Amino acid sequence: MIKKYIFSFILLLFVIILSSCNNSSTNKTNQIMTTTNNITTSNENQPTTTASNNVQSATSQITIPSTNITNTTTSEELNNENNAIVIYFSRTNNTEKIANYIIELTNTESYEILAKIPYTDDDIKYYTNCRADQEQNDPTARPEIGSEIIDLSTYDIIYLGYPIWHGQAPKIMYTFVESYDLTNKTIIPFCTSASSPIGSSATNLAKIEPNANWLAGKRFSATSTKNEVEEWLNSINI
Ligand SMILES: Cc1cc2nc3c(=O)[nH]c(=O)nc-3n(C[C@H](O)[C@H](O)[C@H](O)COP(=O)(O)O)c2cc1C
Repeated sequence: MIKKYIFSFILLLFVIILSSCNNSSTNKTNQIMTTTNNITTSNENQPTTTASNNVQSATSQITIPSTNITNTTTSEELNNENNAIVIYFSRTNNTEKIANYIIELTNTESYEILAKIPYTDDDIKYYTNCRADQEQNDPTARPEIGSEIIDLSTYDIIYLGYPIWHGQAPKIMYTFVESYDLTNKTIIPFCTSASSPIGSSATNLAKIEPNANWLAGKRFSATSTKNEVEEWLNSINI
């Protein structure tokens, strides 16, 4: 009789344990399904890159993919909306370095102004009455451009870069501004120099093309970093 009771008690205990295990397993399954549903909902939103609401809703559920979407959208908007180009003259590559930072950061196209008669090292030994010294002293000097003519009609914004030569833009920049119709274009001058500020170099170029929208220019040095250029670009808010 006692054996029968013990057996019944063990049987009851076994049934209780079995039932409890089953419940716990069901809960886990539900939890997994809930998580899966959340991920599915987020993924559905991913291709809709233009709707910021959708992107934000995805952000709250799957952080990493949403961040990628936001970056892609911003970069595409920059390209499509700005129609910008970086145009520069650089004899010893300091201005070219800054130009390349702008190109990388804004994802724009570029055009290098090359002299038809290239400047030799002797031509740029300033304060020796070298070719560059003579041109900068001659108000009528307009060195010819050697690079191919470019169609600027599709560009609204021009980042215009040059080195400072005796406090001003090299005369080949005057040749450039006089050769092209820059009416209604937004021009953002930038320059490099050993120590001089941008001074009146950009405003003197602006006098040649008053129908363009000239923004305040920015001077960089040969050692300016990509971060400095990025900060400047952010401050322009274009
Ligand atoms: C003819 C000539 C004149 C220059 N005049 C100045 C000047 O007035 N002030 C200055 O700070 N640097 C002057 N420089 C130095 C350049 O502005 C500086 O090296 C610049 O970064 C060169 O740019 P690039 O490498 O793009 O040609 C002059 C350089 C040359 C060749």
